[in-house]
Amino acid sequence: MDILKYKNYDALSEAVALQMVNQIISKPDTVFCLASGNTPLKAYEYFVEKVKKETIDYSRCVFFGLDEWIGISPDDTGSCHYFLTKNVFEPLGIANENIYLFDGLSKNPEAECDRISRAIEKNGIDLIIVGIGMNGHIGFNEPGALIGNNVQIVALDSVTQTVGQKYFDKPMLLKKGMTIALRSFLDAKKALLIANGSKKASIIQQTIEGEISITVPSTIIQLHKNASVMIDYEAAACLIN
Ligand code: PGA
Repeated sequence: MDILKYKNYDALSEAVALQMVNQIISKPDTVFCLASGNTPLKAYEYFVEKVKKETIDYSRCVFFGLDEWIGISPDDTGSCHYFLTKNVFEPLGIANENIYLFDGLSKNPEAECDRISRAIEKNGIDLIIVGIGMNGHIGFNEPGALIGNNVQIVALDSVTQTVGQKYFDKPMLLKKGMTIALRSFLDAKKALLIANGSKKASIIQQTIEGEISITVPSTIIQLHKNASVMIDYEAAACLIN
């Protein structure tokens, strides 16, 4: 596992975007799995800008969304669906057949997870980009998460239910989610975990230097064969080594 540190959020975001672009250059049919959230927002802005400016051919790339709130409409500005559509897929004009996003309003979330799981089995994931929750979650793999499945439905931890309110313009009931599971995270050919800001410093220290334990799901990254943790100096502030 590499630990890559950047002086601030902007430098971190540019470096993440560069990794995404280089990934497409080395494998034009890259399968991405992308997180939503505040952390990757600027990296995606840079990514969109770079691929357009450098006329990178991304037409054969496939994109998976990392997770989704169950019960939240794809049109809701707080949904992961909306976030990735607005910030990546629409600006780049990605074809629908190359996009796999969970439908938070699906009447049958189990079937929805099966659909995504089958697509992962078929395509494989080349590059997965995840943020980290204040409780160490990756996607919606909360403390105590199972490792076995590709994709799963999870009961959201109280920390996620509270912190998740920041994405919505009014209070929301956020009880369950669908997520790419830790198995798929570990199986992805390359994984990037990104974090910025001092509020993430303690959980980043546990992730990198703590014992591997499912009570802090992000520690599982220590088992990944090709992972980088990309953080700004503030998020790196509690690292001992
Ligand atoms: P954030 O969310 O990027 O908005 O901090 C990270 C996460 O909860 O995984």
